[in-house]
Amino acid sequence: RQQQSKVGPLAGRRALVTAGPTHEPLDPVRYLANRSSGQQGFALAAALADLGADVTLVSGPVSLPPPAGVTYLACETAREMHALAMGSGHFDVAVCTAAVADWRPEHEAGQKIKKTGAPDAAPPIKLVPNPDILAELAAPGPGRPKLVVGFAAETENVIAHATAKRQRKQCDWIVANDVSPQTGIMGGQENQVVLITADSVEAWPRMSKADVANQLAERITVWLSE
Ligand code: CTP
Ligand code: CA
Repeated sequence: RQQQSKVGPLAGRRALVTAGPTHEPLDPVRYLANRSSGQQGFALAAALADLGADVTLVSGPVSLPPPAGVTYLACETAREMHALAMGSGHFDVAVCTAAVADWRPEHEAGQKIKKTGAPDAAPPIKLVPNPDILAELAAPGPGRPKLVVGFAAETENVIAHATAKRQRKQCDWIVANDVSPQTGIMGGQENQVVLITADSVEAWPRMSKADVANQLAERITVWLSE
């Protein structure tokens, strides 16, 4: 690591950011995935690095260049993301922005699945659950980061769903957003979030994803210095 050269309020702190979607292969040419541009996670990794943190960015497939000054670990599947996130040492703060596929096809066919049988027949796909990276990072234990932050992409009852999610996953904060198609947030440059902690619910105004990243990085800095 080259963190000696870092300056800023987060110098000497290690931060993990997960970002992007995961791709879960069905066969060599097909996969199951979530929608995610990776922009919010990449912006957050950049903001934390700007404040001096030693940032590890673990990302699924996206079409963004990695921000300067971060350790970038690319992956494809949820299991790969899980292994990279868990196998990269201790972090002071972990922020999970990735849109991880909740399930993967149970079997990955070695060859392209062909259209055999009746013309209107389709193969059944059995799904099995993927590991929950956020829940594992946030579980109480000696190696737990001091601060674990999740994101909750919802399409209805945003605050209620996100509050329940924070408790279920045992993360300290959850950043909730409404990703219904009419909001334009999914894939867009802007975000409108609600920061939910154990004792507060804060609706932030709509702003650029870069500004959400900068403000969240500021909040993380304040929290870690208390
Ligand atoms: N997450 C994760 N690993 C998973 C699933 C989710 O790390 N296998 C993280 C996401 O990065 C995000 C948070 O958990 O920070 C919430 O993800 P979300 O999909 O909104 O929540 P789920 O618990 O998967 O619930 P659901 O999809 O049913 O709404
Ligand atoms: Ca999910």
